[in-house]
Amino acid sequence: MTLNWKDGFTIPTSRLYPFQWNWDSGFVSIGQSHFRLDHAILELESLFSSQWENGMLPHIVFHSENETTYFPNHDFWDSNVNPGAPLNPKSSGITQPAVHGFVLENLLNKFPNDEQLVGFVKAIFPKVVHYHRFLYTYRDPEREGLMFIFHPWESGRDNSPIWDDSLDRIVINKDELPHYERRDTSIAPSDERPTAEQYDRYVYLLQLGKKYQYDQPGIYKESPVLVQDTMMNAILIKSNQSLINIGKRFKLDTGELEEWQQQAKRSFAEKLWHEGLQTFASYDLRGGHHIEHKEIGGLVPLYAEIASSKQAESLNNYLQSLHKRGFYICPSFDVDSPLFDSKRYWRGPVWPQMNWMIYHGLNYYGFKDTAEIVKNDLIELVSKLGFYEYFESQKSLVNDLETGYGGNHFSWTAACVMDLLKT
Ligand code: SER
Repeated sequence: MTLNWKDGFTIPTSRLYPFQWNWDSGFVSIGQSHFRLDHAILELESLFSSQWENGMLPHIVFHSENETTYFPNHDFWDSNVNPGAPLNPKSSGITQPAVHGFVLENLLNKFPNDEQLVGFVKAIFPKVVHYHRFLYTYRDPEREGLMFIFHPWESGRDNSPIWDDSLDRIVINKDELPHYERRDTSIAPSDERPTAEQYDRYVYLLQLGKKYQYDQPGIYKESPVLVQDTMMNAILIKSNQSLINIGKRFKLDTGELEEWQQQAKRSFAEKLWHEGLQTFASYDLRGGHHIEHKEIGGLVPLYAEIASSKQAESLNNYLQSLHKRGFYICPSFDVDSPLFDSKRYWRGPVWPQMNWMIYHGLNYYGFKDTAEIVKNDLIELVSKLGFYEYFESQKSLVNDLETGYGGNHFSWTAACVMDLLKT
């Protein structure tokens, strides 16, 4: 993390991701608090310096306009098509999981009497609420209590097979797509990254967002990708609750948060559990059906404490069975699906920040043994392979590997491992 510290914020890793990423910074702040609480605070302050007038918190903040190793860069996003986007720093036009509420509560629980932290939390509280307000208005036009995303990058699980059918609705006409050049595959091996066909569709959706200034109703009307994602909504619910707890502690107004929370929890329980698959499953609003896959987003409701005890037991049994079958848990996608690919980004590898959330979720429900496996699997992978972005999930393959996958010296990997070791 110190290696990636850029005088006010932390990049995930050099070259592959040379700017500030939204949910990365949340986990990094938790990690930093163990040795530099002032940096943990600055990290979040820097991130919120990019907040838009409508409340949106962008997924990338381009603090430096001189880095050229990343596509799509600030000029391609052109976020100032929206008059409420700050001119400086430049940002992307989409968001990422709303981790900030629970990050603030995590810091406060660690340092309840730190005056600087308490002052900071009180000052940033309305900004985080404003961000949630953006999600529950602009991204929930039918007022269901469940937000939608229109770009897989928003989910953080970019190329998970759960987006495949939605992306297949997009017919690419090369003449209409702007010319672009990927940078990621010249830095990380291409078989560990999304495919060219997927990138064309990511660019298509970026252009669609831009056409509607990234917040106009045309997105809801037109986007072929329109999904109420399990993980996005579970994390939002977790952070709602953290903000409610913080608000009550400091006597701040929590009325609006409590209204969102009540509706969100009810809708989540009614709409996003898939009885046949025995997991939570995201809902494809465009197609009007569940996305029928077992994948890691379906486990995050454990962390949000919104699974019933029976549902939690099912999810725990699922993880135990994967462990017994020789997988590091938790693989990011269904190992029995033909779409499982244990090397390619979100189609199978193990991801550190997911283990962090699932570890805490399992502990909450009393599944201490499984929680320990989730923690130790991550620590074993990092010890054997290094502080990488993501890892091989099949134990039988790990002995022949010398590294993890994606970026190396990865900030949230260090942050999550450090926090888990101190838990
Ligand atoms: N994670 C995406 C990327 O690889 C977008 O944030 O660039």
